Amino acid sequence: MATVIDNIGLLVTNRPEMGEGALGLLRDVSVVIANGEVVSVDGVGQVADERIDAQGRCVLPGFVASHTHLVFAGDRAEEFSKRMAGQPYDGGGIQVTTTATRAASDDDLRALSKARLEEAHRAGTTTIEIKSGYGLNVKDEARSLRLAQEITSETTFLGAHLLPSEYAGRADDYIDLVCGDMLTAARPHARWIDAFCEVGAFDEGQCRQVLTAGREAGLGLRLHGNQLGHGPGVQLAVEMGCASVDHCTYLSDEDIEALAASDTVATFLPATDFSTRQPYPDARRVIDAGASVAIASNCNPGSSYTTSLSFCIALAVRDMHMTIEEAIQAVTLGGAAALRRDDVGYLAPGAKGHLVILDADSYHDLAYRPGVPLIAQTVT
Ligand code: NIG
Repeated sequence: MATVIDNIGLLVTNRPEMGEGALGLLRDVSVVIANGEVVSVDGVGQVADERIDAQGRCVLPGFVASHTHLVFAGDRAEEFSKRMAGQPYDGGGIQVTTTATRAASDDDLRALSKARLEEAHRAGTTTIEIKSGYGLNVKDEARSLRLAQEITSETTFLGAHLLPSEYAGRADDYIDLVCGDMLTAARPHARWIDAFCEVGAFDEGQCRQVLTAGREAGLGLRLHGNQLGHGPGVQLAVEMGCASVDHCTYLSDEDIEALAASDTVATFLPATDFSTRQPYPDARRVIDAGASVAIASNCNPGSSYTTSLSFCIALAVRDMHMTIEEAIQAVTLGGAAALRRDDVGYLAPGAKGHLVILDADSYHDLAYRPGVPLIAQTVT
């Protein structure tokens, strides 16, 4: 089965050796996909079972959303509204979503997650990571991961998201549970393990215990760090060899140096800083220091209820001083690096045939025309 995407005015390959500039731009080409893989980006003489006419518009690699929390029930619109009236975000509302998620049936949770996945897909996301973290007991963490696994292979066990109310005052006991029975139940459904390293969530020692247990169980490591203030998250993530440390809103010079000297990706979640009225991370300094960066949506009901990576690109360019090209790379190649994937995030022979056709001649419009639905078609 071969598909040809014909009549592409501007193609972002993300392979500088194949075209112009850092994005490896090609003009007036066709992409051929066979058995789910890109086989050529010139398309010459190819017989196709299916033809898609890009109408001279711009085509990019599909977006890689490397940090989401799609499996949840209920919403927190009231919390958001209070926040806009001045109440600060502290992550405590995770308990509200946990109560709603535990009460939902499998069928309801499945339908809610699938609807959010489809929304993300329509907005250009073709690879998605999904965390648990709204179950916070053995049964519901395993269930969230099982449901996530039905829709993505990039599943992350986040039992150490918040101390559930039934463990109040017994954080170390809860961490023992996370590293014991909960990890055992989660393991068959997870590729990654994560923890929320922050005042009000878990401290450095507790997060180190979780990451160590996860590594021993064969999971890849990621960490939430430096979201609400300066803290040990980035240094811990680098020390433990995490694939990614996510948020990075508050970074010291030492944090930036450590990131630059490591292969841990700094994943920015600008829609979170937007929705929680936090400052934006100093992406310019992180990039100029030589660290690898990604941008993800962090879709969740508390701190970032959006699936739109176009919105994140616009924020990164306007408020984090990233160039448009850097922001495009951060939601494609950057997300792929954060998930340690070498088959997505670019368009060249061997890559997955995942791409986005824009309703625009250039990728610039993703930052230049914020809020406009510019994804004409997502191909997977
Ligand atoms: O990445 N920081 C922790 N977890 C989520 C927020 C979850 C929530 O508030 O429900 C985040 O922002």
